[in-house]
Amino acid sequence: MKNTPIDYNTVSKAIKESGHECVGKASIREIKFLIDTIEKKSGDKFVRMEMGIPGFPASKIATDAEKQALDNGVASLYPNIDGVPELKTEISRFVKNYINIDVSPKACIPTVGSINGNYGTFMVAGRMDEKKDTVLFIDPGFPVHKQLVKMLGLKQESFDVYNFRGAKLKEKLESYLKKGNISVILYSNPNNPTWICFNDEELRIIGELATKYDVVVEEDLAYFAMDFRKDMSKPGEPPYQPSVANYTDNYVLMISSSKAFSYAGQRVGMMCISDKLFNRDFKRLLNYYSTSNFGHAVAYGTLYATTSGVTHSAQYGLLALLKATNNGEYNPWEVVRKYGERARKAKKLFTDNGFNIVYDTDIDQPIADGFYFTISYPGFTGEQLLEELMYYGVSAISLSTTGSEREGLRACVSFIADNQFPQLEERLKKFKENH
Ligand SMILES: Cc1ncc(COP(=O)(O)O)c(C=O)c1O
Repeated sequence: MKNTPIDYNTVSKAIKESGHECVGKASIREIKFLIDTIEKKSGDKFVRMEMGIPGFPASKIATDAEKQALDNGVASLYPNIDGVPELKTEISRFVKNYINIDVSPKACIPTVGSINGNYGTFMVAGRMDEKKDTVLFIDPGFPVHKQLVKMLGLKQESFDVYNFRGAKLKEKLESYLKKGNISVILYSNPNNPTWICFNDEELRIIGELATKYDVVVEEDLAYFAMDFRKDMSKPGEPPYQPSVANYTDNYVLMISSSKAFSYAGQRVGMMCISDKLFNRDFKRLLNYYSTSNFGHAVAYGTLYATTSGVTHSAQYGLLALLKATNNGEYNPWEVVRKYGERARKAKKLFTDNGFNIVYDTDIDQPIADGFYFTISYPGFTGEQLLEELMYYGVSAISLSTTGSEREGLRACVSFIADNQFPQLEERLKKFKENH
């Protein structure tokens, strides 16, 4: 029984009543539910760092455009399955302006959140070739991707990239690819949960091996241009968002509007399939679709049969945002850059009080300050630390749920209010004092 910022008995009772054998192993939603319960019972607010929810309001540019589209009558009409034509053109402009790659509007497809694009791609790429029945995750990663692959009945393999950064990635990646069973490689960049950012050498390795072994790369750019060490926010000007698209034609890019554009609620993301891949034919797809064509099977096969396109008005909202961004009239990164500021402050509070940053470098430079960071405390496993921090009013998720082989937690800064930093400091000081 310790003197802790949140009443010790209330927390231990809530943990016991939650029925989890090990709270540290609980999913994000389960942790959220437990923290909601403790907050209600104790009357104390947590510094909530468990969920990656955008913390800023959506731009009026988008919401006004959605209202206008509804007034214009789009609600009664089916949207095109592969997207409103003007939106497809703006997505194509967007990837030209911010990655400096050419993808034709035909191969730029809005999806119901970027995860829906992953679903469509796994479904097709996982069935192109009988021998290639396995998805390879470069971990740590976002657990929902693994859930998708499992649901689809595909196999999966993964490795923690911590010890395989830079040139070391080649041998490690090739050790999987040369077995011939991998259909798709997936990673996020910047990475959820660690915020590591692959550099061009690493992306070149991934791209060249994807070409060599004819594997599709699903590059998840959920945190597009949010490596704030570089200002990638000027349309048509370097530096650009680094991408595997510069090194292979076997790519599908998933670009979420949820974080960079603070538009998570409308469930509209973007998928860009390389033109070469879009136009390729795989005979085996005829077992599942009326076509052997990759792009057609994704859009008119999978997306038609699952979501039948994205909500019409949401497409107009995203269209307005992209147009303003492409034209240099709106800069979404001016808003979300504040996540980086919060991370810098929060990381300092943790490290000043005995915590370590787990994934602390991008090879030779300190990790960027962004949406997430990872922490550990000497003598604690990630799962133990998660539980112990609950008594101190700080919530996070364990890295063990993300495919990481390292002990620690993922902390998300999106929901820390500016006035919560003094409280966070006080609680972490108390944690240090008690341990
Ligand atoms: C790596 C990664 N991919 C995808 C998503 C979800 O994107 P969307 O909201 O566009 O489906 C998230 C959200 O947390 C994420 O972290």
